[in-house]
Amino acid sequence: MQIHVTSGNIAQQATDCIVVNLFEGVAHPGGATGAVDNALSGAISRLIASGDFSGEANTTALLYTDGKIAAPRVLVVGLGQSEKFDLHGVRKAAAATVNALAKLKGVKNVATIVHGAGIAGLDTAAAAQTLAEGTLLAAYVSPQYKREPQSAALASCTVVEFDATKVDAVQAGVDRGVGIAAGVYSARNYVSEPPNVLYPVEFASRARAMAAETGLACTVLGEAEMRELKMGILLAVSLGSVREAQLIILEHAPAGTENDAPLVLVGKGITFDTGGISIKPSANMWLMKDDMGGAAAVIGAMESLARLGVPKRVIGVAACVENMPDGGAFRPGDIVTGMTGKTAEIISTDAEGRLVLADALAYVARYNPAAVVDLATLTGAVGVALGPHAAGLFANDDALKDALLAAADQSGERLWHLPLYDEYLDTIKSDMAEVQNSGGRMGGVGTSAKFIEHFTEGYPWAHLDIASMVWDSNGKNPLAPKGAVGYGVRLLVELAEQW
Ligand code: BES
Ligand code: MN
Ligand code: ZN
Repeated sequence: MQIHVTSGNIAQQATDCIVVNLFEGVAHPGGATGAVDNALSGAISRLIASGDFSGEANTTALLYTDGKIAAPRVLVVGLGQSEKFDLHGVRKAAAATVNALAKLKGVKNVATIVHGAGIAGLDTAAAAQTLAEGTLLAAYVSPQYKREPQSAALASCTVVEFDATKVDAVQAGVDRGVGIAAGVYSARNYVSEPPNVLYPVEFASRARAMAAETGLACTVLGEAEMRELKMGILLAVSLGSVREAQLIILEHAPAGTENDAPLVLVGKGITFDTGGISIKPSANMWLMKDDMGGAAAVIGAMESLARLGVPKRVIGVAACVENMPDGGAFRPGDIVTGMTGKTAEIISTDAEGRLVLADALAYVARYNPAAVVDLATLTGAVGVALGPHAAGLFANDDALKDALLAAADQSGERLWHLPLYDEYLDTIKSDMAEVQNSGGRMGGVGTSAKFIEHFTEGYPWAHLDIASMVWDSNGKNPLAPKGAVGYGVRLLVELAEQW
């Protein structure tokens, strides 16, 4: 979908539908909504008086204009109580608009005002950014494999600003929203793709193509190079697969930042997780195509950072492997040695995410990072603890933890801080190796994080367990259709900008 910005009066736009808004409890709207109400001889006031529409958040009402203005339809979107309205409200109102209009076959092109930039007093550019984000995020359509592919319901959205002195700020905000949504769309596409299409080598070639387009530097290590680096823990996971493992490295270093200590983002990229020899039950196994959601978030965020020209040095690393059972596969009981010389005993080949991260996190020490943040669909246990409402956050550094929590607040992509108790290490002590890759059911989220911490050295580090966030099965998320969420991209862009 295209998003345009123009200066003018929303009531005069010639398009399929114009969008205005209403705070809860307002009987006679003012501003742009009031101007449209006047042009419609009080139709919006009468709608409110009827009791059918109160301006409750995320509700909408549709009016037909009977030739009184150029647009045949007006959609009024509720913003809820004005005291509670914030940028998250703008994002949700935009999404509610798209979700309501998607049901109308005759609506392809719409025009909207910027919610909240008037009486709610939100920063104009920030409100325009979240308006564009919410609009695009809700309008996403996954890759299609049908003979009659589904396409986006809306073709264009024009953001109309009455105050000519604010148009540049609106345009700047919209551009940022578009740049962020591009990274989220890419992340959703990577996650949505079936595992026979998107395997490590294909993932790497998509990352290369994106890097060539956006100006990122891209390096990909194959198995021979990883063997050379003695990444024996990561490579063990790949033994059962005929698909070659890939370590994808993207670098964003705008002029002047080349020598800065970088923020390093690391993503778990298991393109399909069968569990390996510790094979998973077959019900729902198909969904393990989303086990590269961490890598997708990292590569998507790198794309957004490049598109937005964020003036920070950031390196993104995606550890991409397929976890399959096979005669050559690694086994429970195997002891493997990674890049740092540290050893791990395999208790379950299904606890493979922490294994690929162990070597990826050892690898990134070479950058002398200012901080390292890994994202991984690591445990089912995090979903048991938090539900699909927040990712688990672990950190060995308070400043990094606080920066992540602030980025979560700003982006609306929630995090919840969980402990890295020393006692967790006792649970993963192995008789023969330094650590073992599973500590059993009790405290399963914490012990997985503790395992990873064992392989991090010399930098502030945080781990985000995003297993319950990457895929939405119930379709109730207004900001994403059912399926891939693209969780983490907006959070990471915010972190990189604030860090
Ligand atoms: N990829 C899974 C975690 C997962 C589970 C993600 C459900 C999304 C939904 C991970 O590799 C895994 O299998 N973890 C095991 C760890 C266990 C064997 C210690 C788990 O959570 O059961
Ligand atoms: Mn697994
Ligand atoms: Zn996994």
